[in-house]
Amino acid sequence: MVSVLFVCLGNICRSPTAEAVFRKRAAQAGLAVEVDSAGTGAWHLGALPDERAIAAGLARGYDLSAIRARQVVAADYGHFDLLLAMDHDNLETLKSRAPKTLHDRIKLFLSFDPQQSLVVVPDPYYGGDDGFEKVLDLIEAASDGLIVQLRAS
Ligand code: 4NP
Repeated sequence: MVSVLFVCLGNICRSPTAEAVFRKRAAQAGLAVEVDSAGTGAWHLGALPDERAIAAGLARGYDLSAIRARQVVAADYGHFDLLLAMDHDNLETLKSRAPKTLHDRIKLFLSFDPQQSLVVVPDPYYGGDDGFEKVLDLIEAASDGLIVQLRAS
């Protein structure tokens, strides 16, 4: 079984959305996966996802309500086959904390989006509700691209 950790800054907007979207779409595709999410920062430890992320996800059929924010821990680098960062800051933070031998597991999540409309998932925290719709669009596309790649390998 492939294991995937989605990573953003706070683990309350983008990465919990990715966790819920990828979990549902992988299940629909019949792919057995272990899925989790975490933040590089520690501000929101134990918190529910942002209410705007919960609402936007629910409107598309994704349930984020069981997710609680946690920070990436050292054991994650060896445990997960893929650690998928939402933006370059998250990517560089992960690489700076991970052993060099495990750097090939750390990638930008949108590198799996075949459309490649954007390279990073923009942080929606300080913006309006349309930011959360954009996050969902990007995450759905990259999730399906990742599922195709995992099936092929
Ligand atoms: P996320 O969004 O990284 O997608 O969870 C953010 C959440 C909180 C903060 C920044 C980004 N913050 O500064 O508290």
